[in-house]
Amino acid sequence: MNRGKLLTVIFLVTAVPTAAVIAAVRSEPIQPIEPAKVANPALVELGKKLYFDPRLSKSGFISCNSCHNLSMGGTDNIKTSIGHNWQEGPINAPTVLNSSMNLAQFWDGRAADLKEQAGGPIANPGEMAFSHVLAVDVIQSIPGYTEEFKKAFGNETVDIDKMTLAIAAFEETLVTPNSRFDLWLKGDDKALTKVELEGYTLFRDSGCVACHNGPAAGGNSFQKMGLIEPYKSTSPSEGRSAVTGKDADRFNFKVPTLRNVELTYPYFHDGAANTLGEAVDIMGRLQLGRKFSDEENAKIVSFLKTLTGDQPSFLLPILPPSADNTPRPTPFEK
Ligand code: HEC
Ligand code: HEC
Repeated sequence: MNRGKLLTVIFLVTAVPTAAVIAAVRSEPIQPIEPAKVANPALVELGKKLYFDPRLSKSGFISCNSCHNLSMGGTDNIKTSIGHNWQEGPINAPTVLNSSMNLAQFWDGRAADLKEQAGGPIANPGEMAFSHVLAVDVIQSIPGYTEEFKKAFGNETVDIDKMTLAIAAFEETLVTPNSRFDLWLKGDDKALTKVELEGYTLFRDSGCVACHNGPAAGGNSFQKMGLIEPYKSTSPSEGRSAVTGKDADRFNFKVPTLRNVELTYPYFHDGAANTLGEAVDIMGRLQLGRKFSDEENAKIVSFLKTLTGDQPSFLLPILPPSADNTPRPTPFEK
């Protein structure tokens, strides 16, 4: 056999199993989540520290992780978040997991991307209640941080742009691959039980996938909450119309991701649904005009729980200590 032929044979032999694997990825409206690729590890490390650092808040007590707790699916598991001075927030905290896949950030999409979003809570009087200038002053005064800025950006100057870029780079790593549903999508027939698969079939065939699709099973469109039947809520939020000013966008919200939804209770922008069963019942009636039986509801819930993927896993970041001249926090305000 000549060399060219031999290479062709080797190519065919190695190509066959690869092709088989590709063919086994099922063609469904939801696609598997792939692991994150890290381009700049120093930037991600810096962003991780900032994410966990409560010194970005006026009180010195609230970090991003306070409301988006990575031990709890990237949420706070309360109806609406608690911010500075125990203020009750107006809206439920969405998960940060897989948030890089969102078409825009926030329930109404008012931030274009993660970098733009990250500046919001620091300066929000109801959340971290700080200012960008003060947050930069604090971080710039900490020698352990300026070293990290040098590693990530090539110089020690701290500014809000670099801070939010680093936080966003860390958030981009917060993806959750390898859920049982993804294993099934990739061809593993045994990854789902019969009931879970029936739940998925119901979810797909009754029309939930019209809005919950793509790798995140949501996050890629704004849709009306209460399409068939109006949604009754005590929350003043009107959703997308706050951004566009258009009446047609009232009560349009970003469709939340259903990835890890088992962990991210309570549900909806007002946090009014405590359980998945309740959320599925409301979705069926209000979005599809369909009342699921208890058995159907339980099947869909069992499918939704297969969307829980590998949670972010890393060593708890140890934050560099404040220096003598670091501005001190104001934990209480009368
Ligand atoms: C006091 C609680 C609180 C803190 C602290 C907080 N967040 Fe949030 N976060 C929220 C709430 C509530 C929302 C939803 C607000 C809205 O949509 O109007 C949100 C929305 C988000 C979103 C958008 C997710 C989506 O699907 O739209 C991201 C990303 C996010 N926060 C990241 C962060 C980062 C990074 C920090 C730290 C710099 C942070 N948050 C600090 C409560 C908080
Ligand atoms: C017409 C679009 C649409 C359809 C169809 C739809 N949803 Fe939703 N879904 C949404 C929107 C929008 C929200 C957020 C609503 C809000 O918070 O006010 C949502 C929220 C949810 C939530 C809560 C997630 C969270 O983190 O708060 C679950 C669970 C859910 N949907 C499941 C389903 C199921 C199951 C079906 C099919 C029975 C379905 N959805 C059909 C648009 C849709």
